[in-house]
Amino acid sequence: MATLAAKPELDVSRAELWKANSWRPLFEKLRSDDPVSYCPDSFFGPYWSITRYDDVIAVESDAETFSSSWEHGGIVIFDMQDTGVQLRMFIAMDEPEHTEKRKAIAPAVAPTQIQKLAGALRQRTAEVLDSLPVGKEFDWVHSVSIPLTTAMIATLFDFPWEERHKLPVWSDWAAKIDIGPDPQLNAERERHVFEMASRFKEIYDERRAAPPKGDLLSMMAHSEYYGDMDEQRFIGAIALLLVGGNDTTRNSMSGLIDQINRFPDAWAKVKADPEKLASGAATETIRLQTPIAHMRRTATRDVEFKGKQIRKGDKVVLWYNSANRDESVFPDADRWNPERENARRHLSFGYGIHRCLGARLAELQVATLIEEMAKRDMEVKIAGEPERLASCFTNGFEHLNVIMSRTDV
Ligand code: HEM
Repeated sequence: MATLAAKPELDVSRAELWKANSWRPLFEKLRSDDPVSYCPDSFFGPYWSITRYDDVIAVESDAETFSSSWEHGGIVIFDMQDTGVQLRMFIAMDEPEHTEKRKAIAPAVAPTQIQKLAGALRQRTAEVLDSLPVGKEFDWVHSVSIPLTTAMIATLFDFPWEERHKLPVWSDWAAKIDIGPDPQLNAERERHVFEMASRFKEIYDERRAAPPKGDLLSMMAHSEYYGDMDEQRFIGAIALLLVGGNDTTRNSMSGLIDQINRFPDAWAKVKADPEKLASGAATETIRLQTPIAHMRRTATRDVEFKGKQIRKGDKVVLWYNSANRDESVFPDADRWNPERENARRHLSFGYGIHRCLGARLAELQVATLIEEMAKRDMEVKIAGEPERLASCFTNGFEHLNVIMSRTDV
């Protein structure tokens, strides 16, 4: 079996596979022939690939054996401890620190809080859609996905509105893990991340001196668990919320266009009955896009898993994009089916103690976009080849040129 994974075409982390959107057959083969496979060599060093649905759940359910901690290298395939930006965020912590920190900010994205944001979210979505040119080519990523997600993150942090354009720049740099050990790119990454940290620290200190409010920064500033963080922990906390809420939802909004172009009949159904189907369509979009293609764990002990010997210190990569296409759970898995009954079981938000804290907010953003598009009877046709990110972590689009029509005006 090891020989199978040793072949370069079965190193599924290769950036060109993601850029060319050609990874599907390789994962299909791994799922059927070697679902827990060892890749002895790659740009990121050796790693295990977990590709089936049940196996991803099994690994995520045993957080003691399969650690998320930054001390072992963190939660992406690239070892974060090798850079000046280690991102000590709670997504990259084990118990008990993880839960303490998670609890402190959870209220900011609790259902009641999200409901309060729903009106503003709908209004902004409508404004962005109404500003789009009809019948002329434009880039959906830069005209819709980025402005909408940036506005939501600025609202969550109560970040100065006139500076919000900085948020996606910082977030993109924080999330660039595929640059590997390149010293120049890492230096640039550090520059952006430290600029982000110092601006956020200024606002954080202001919020700390002021009475508590409902935004994320104020909640952190007044929480006993965040009070006096070291610099790397502060950077990590901010970067987590920024990247968590930015690239992911952005790429779901772009992925939606990909899906409705592939499945125009399903889109027609959604437009005919958005009240019934918008939420399912949003969930299916997030399943199929899988904006975070993988999370990584590190084995804390030697363990036998599905007949394979995983050694202490080994990297274990959980491929959500593959688990979400496991036919034993999602029949006709590559089909975008807003009426799919078990779509909510997808693993795009992960599983277990680290399951995404912003899942409901992300779903609401994508469903609102779908509803507002349906209201305008929008058709959005892809014009030319989409430009995808060369990343096995952030699975998404650099540019997505489209031509839009609507029958309501
Ligand atoms: C479609 C959009 C999104 C996707 C696909 C996504 C995906 C993920 C994934 C895969 C994880 C790790 C789960 C695991 O290890 O089991 C995660 C964790 C997290 N996400 Fe999201 N996310 C999205 C939106 C958001 C938003 C909007 C926010 C916040 C505003 C957010 C905040 C977080 C946080 C704080 C964590 C860490 C949870 C923990 O470690 O306990 N995410 N997300």
